[in-house]
Amino acid sequence: MMDTKKSIHGEWSSDFGFILAATGSAVGLGNIWKFPYIVGENGGGAFVIVYLACVLLIGIPIMMAEIMMGRRSRQNPIDTMVTLTAEANADKRWHYVGWMGVIAGFLILSYYSVIAGWASAYVVKNFTGSFSGASPTDIKIIFNNFIASPMQLIFWHTLFMIATMLIVARGITGGLEKSVRFLIPALFVLLILLVGYAMSTSGYFQGLRFLFNPDFSKLTGNSVLVAMGQAFFTLSIGMGAIMVYGAYLPKDVSIAKTTFIIAGADTLVALLAGIIIFPIVFTYQLQADSGPGLIFQVLPIAFGNMTGGWLFGTLFFIALVFAALTSSISLIEPAVAWLIEHKGLSRQQACIKSGLAAWALGLITVFSFNVWSDFKIFNQTLFELIDYITANLMLPTGGLCIAVFTGWMMQRQHSEKELALPSDTQGYPLWRVVVRYVSPCAVFLVFLHVTGVI
Ligand code: PHE
Repeated sequence: MMDTKKSIHGEWSSDFGFILAATGSAVGLGNIWKFPYIVGENGGGAFVIVYLACVLLIGIPIMMAEIMMGRRSRQNPIDTMVTLTAEANADKRWHYVGWMGVIAGFLILSYYSVIAGWASAYVVKNFTGSFSGASPTDIKIIFNNFIASPMQLIFWHTLFMIATMLIVARGITGGLEKSVRFLIPALFVLLILLVGYAMSTSGYFQGLRFLFNPDFSKLTGNSVLVAMGQAFFTLSIGMGAIMVYGAYLPKDVSIAKTTFIIAGADTLVALLAGIIIFPIVFTYQLQADSGPGLIFQVLPIAFGNMTGGWLFGTLFFIALVFAALTSSISLIEPAVAWLIEHKGLSRQQACIKSGLAAWALGLITVFSFNVWSDFKIFNQTLFELIDYITANLMLPTGGLCIAVFTGWMMQRQHSEKELALPSDTQGYPLWRVVVRYVSPCAVFLVFLHVTGVI
């Protein structure tokens, strides 16, 4: 019965449609906003190497596992766990993995939309010439004044959440797939143009050296956790986003092949973002470790001082908003699919309910940059705490459970049926060894190290 099942929401129109949608989910603020600033905070090249190792050893196998689970059950992540647990005769507590995923998705979306709102505001600021001729100090002041204003942040956060809801309300092919077909190619073109600009700066080679020259003395246990969390976050795994996209994947598509393309494109965009940003940082003698504000304080300097910069700047931040949109739709889709399949809501109603909930939660992030900026737990603002808990703890835990579930609980014949297309039969045993042993041990070791056990 499982083999002929279809999702009630329809399917991607082709494997290319899926690749674009999943790449859209993977490529987002994580690549362009977060990757550069955590590389900056964690000392550069050595961190990049650990991150790449995590993508290869943990990220790719788990992404394959998630797509496989989604396609087998053809349901939202919560019901996927219910169905597959029953099929495998496993303990019902595995259902919690689905719940944890949907909750993590909400928490991430809540702050994601706020930061994507910053990017939207910066489209307008660039367009209206706020940065032309501005010094690094002026740009810092513009940024600090902006995040100090709850009203401005709420305005942009609201706009972005509405855009997300509008796309998702139109469904899989008419909304999600249609939007990525335009947004993803546009993003790539813009990034290539900006790399061209970075190559013309005097700090180009210094920037490259920072990104690629490893200095392992700068790595701490916590940076390894951050690198692993980033691998999960940037590939959209560990919470069911890719799983729900897998539920709409046609039967005859190779999961292994598409996974490598998606992870490759995602890694490429992160590295391109680094190649664009660090040369500008060094050319203008800025701080590489200036945190979440990094791209908002660095890039406008270049845009404000180059010919036609207002246009490039506008286009860059538009690209960033596009990238964020194609990710936010995948953050909300698991909950939307669950509300439709499980609670019988229409897609529109489901979008409104989940969008409103995530929007309200997002106010915590808004206030953590201004009125609550002094309120700290473990020395972190509420935004930093939500980000840390979701990316560094919830996603790796979700991923660990997915690896153990697909490697040890699901019957071999079931996973083999989804993963081992005639063209991929040789890779299957390798995948199985990796999800059974390598990925779970790697996540576990990092956790033990951070908690000080080893
Ligand atoms: N991968 C997205 C990014 O890098 C964020 C994301 C995380 C999307 C988890 C979906 C699920 O920006």
